[in-house]
Amino acid sequence: MHISVVKETAEFENRVALTPDLVKRLCDAGHTVVVEKNAGQAVGFLDETYKTAGASIAKNFADTVVDAQFVLKVGPVVEKQVEYLKANTVLIAMQKVFENKSLFNKINKRNVSAFALEFVPRITRAQSMDVLSSQSNLSGYRAVIEGAYELDRAFPLMMTAAGAVVASRVLVMGAGVAGLQAIATARRLGAIVSAFDVRSAAKEQVQSLGATFIEVDYQESGEGSGGYAKEMSEGYKQAQAAKLLEVLKTQDIVITTALIPGRTAPILLTAEMVNEMKVGSVIVDLAIESGGNCELSKHGITITKNGVKIVAHPNMPSRIAYNASQLYAKNVYNFLQLMIANNEELNIDFNDEIIKSTCLCHDGNLLHSVFEK
Ligand code: NAI
Repeated sequence: MHISVVKETAEFENRVALTPDLVKRLCDAGHTVVVEKNAGQAVGFLDETYKTAGASIAKNFADTVVDAQFVLKVGPVVEKQVEYLKANTVLIAMQKVFENKSLFNKINKRNVSAFALEFVPRITRAQSMDVLSSQSNLSGYRAVIEGAYELDRAFPLMMTAAGAVVASRVLVMGAGVAGLQAIATARRLGAIVSAFDVRSAAKEQVQSLGATFIEVDYQESGEGSGGYAKEMSEGYKQAQAAKLLEVLKTQDIVITTALIPGRTAPILLTAEMVNEMKVGSVIVDLAIESGGNCELSKHGITITKNGVKIVAHPNMPSRIAYNASQLYAKNVYNFLQLMIANNEELNIDFNDEIIKSTCLCHDGNLLHSVFEK
């Protein structure tokens, strides 16, 4: 098979879709790999390293994809790249399809097959391909590091000859993959951690990490489909806000991670709530790419409001791009095996749940339910 790895062009994107060790594995298995010049440079994977692994280097996007059966990317292609994709090429990436539906009409018209890794189903067999989990996990870790950097206080309790330094308090809103890793990281650094989530299953997970679960006094289940959350009622939101207002006054860092698939992120922190927070405290809004969980967050900028810093870095995994690339590349490699493992010919089994869930378009047809909405 001919597999191409192109360079990411999006702002804030440092990751690369395939690492040299996996290039080597593919080449050793008899595949041909072409990597676009400087594709891995931002994470220290130099062209020379890819060459040593067995890849050849192409000077631009057009040359990289010209003979490709597979094009591997982290984010979606940009519109002007579509014309270079040949019919029957298989494009694999996190396609951000909710923001990009018209792009896939164009891709589909070229008879290119596109797969969105963000739609890998959360079934046991697909865990090794689950890019949302691998990237969110690192985001959660990094969010704590970003918060700690902005905070002018220490995380752990310290008893010194000059007096005691009290432990910082960290509140994590949304205890999914990113949130649970944020809890674990903040605990490791010595903070006193609490968290909440609308899904009742999160309670036990939060407590098992040694954090306190904050209960909202309102009877409503937050479980949506596929293990994700649903949007909550107005009544719940009000009860949640009232509870939070109380808790926020004591926190040093608040990390927000709440997402609802395919929708704008819920606002969990209003301007009024930020006003109640301590001077010097820090909010890290991990949901900024979906609009943000804090009403005051500004995409890509750290602002200070009434002495509270609000950090809203987009693409948090890219701020830990080496590890994020390693894990993403492994996810992509495992996904690729579904189509290339058994033979020399392209084999797309549309009876496979993972293929079915991720395929956006194939053979000139838009196949995903996302296009029906
Ligand atoms: P996500 O990134 O879509 O959302 C992050 C968190 O925000 C979720 O825990 C969600 O419940 C929470 N949230 C949404 N609205 C909220 C609100 N108004 N207030 C507070 N919290 C809110 O979710 P993520 O992290 O991708 O995964 C969610 C769950 O999926 C995991 O906790 C896990 O149970 C499950 N999962 C299963 C996997 C598998 O079976 N292979 C792999 C990964 C996750």
